Amino acid sequence: MNPKHGKPRARPHLRSRACSIAGVGSYVPTKVLANADLEKMVDTSDEWITTRTGIKERRISAKDEFTSDMAAKAARRAMKMAGVTGEQIDLIIVATITPDMPFPATACLVQQKIGARHAAAFDLEAACSGFIYGLEIGRQFVASRACETVLVIGAEKLSSITDWKDRNTCVLFGDGAGAAILRSDGAARGILTTVMGADGSKAGLLHMPGGGSRCPATMDSVGARLHYLRMEGSETFKNAVQAMCSAAKEALRRCNLDITQIHCVIPHQANRRIIDAVASRIGATPGQMFVNLDRYGNTSAASVAIALDEAVASGRIQRGDLVLLIVFGAGLTWGAAVLQW
Ligand code: UT7
Repeated sequence: MNPKHGKPRARPHLRSRACSIAGVGSYVPTKVLANADLEKMVDTSDEWITTRTGIKERRISAKDEFTSDMAAKAARRAMKMAGVTGEQIDLIIVATITPDMPFPATACLVQQKIGARHAAAFDLEAACSGFIYGLEIGRQFVASRACETVLVIGAEKLSSITDWKDRNTCVLFGDGAGAAILRSDGAARGILTTVMGADGSKAGLLHMPGGGSRCPATMDSVGARLHYLRMEGSETFKNAVQAMCSAAKEALRRCNLDITQIHCVIPHQANRRIIDAVASRIGATPGQMFVNLDRYGNTSAASVAIALDEAVASGRIQRGDLVLLIVFGAGLTWGAAVLQW
């Protein structure tokens, strides 16, 4: 991609090609924050958190461990699985709402950490839907032959924007990263279709008021706790179920597939009740659903990326299996993707 380094560009070609996921990887911090720990911080209980969300514990990164560090660790694991070196990567896309800093892009920091000196790098912000948005952007670059190898990462240090005094939100989120290497291996399998959507009229349901051009950091904004995320939980819940179901159905329709043909459904890990409601409305059995939110909580853009890696590593997904990813997040944004592994 970068002519400065003298690497030849992939030759443009009119015919598009399929895009496979050649490797996946994930990383979560070692520190565990259990529901019992939260009972000592806010007025909550393990019983409330478990029954209302399904979450038992989440991972919290160290003070000196940032989004780019977790992203790079997940990326190295995906690169290892794909047999790809940093030098071979043409493009890095990092989906995150918790970049190391407003700029430069966390993707540039990752580029340096993994030695991907030929790669272009940028961040994308689609909140919890970011990994599917990233997969689709990466797929377009591979399909059009503009790139040979694309690294897509979902990574978050949500603990840095969590209000640890707000019991409505602080029990929900965790830190982590997941990554995928996209390439064409000549086979027709890979990312079969992707659906993406957004509705900015509901931006206020889930947002962080401070820190942008509308409300830069001041003593007042910090005092008013505007630099933490805020969510209207039950409205977000309803929108999540509705949007995830219609995105999933549309993705299946585009592939001419029935839900019974899907081996593994990986939904955004926000709330067990959302996952169960989506499963029942799209006709998926509990056995088809992959769930790990009991261990990690909601890791936003990293959520389905970590889950995909765990599903592959544990053998839940085998070569040739059909996989349905479904996401939903702030924006509002949503999406779904059908993969053939
Ligand atoms: O990743 C992006 C997408 N995110 C989501 O989709 C999350 C969507 N929302 C949710 O998962 C749920 O709405 C929550 C888990 C956030 C909340 O569950 P809920 O069943 O919608 O509860 P609620 O907000 O209606 O609150 C019910 C009660 C309230 O008390 P009152 O007003 O009825 O007395 C809350 O104050 O539960 C109370 N409550 C808590 N109690 C103990 C809220 N948080 C807690 C807590 N511990 N941590």
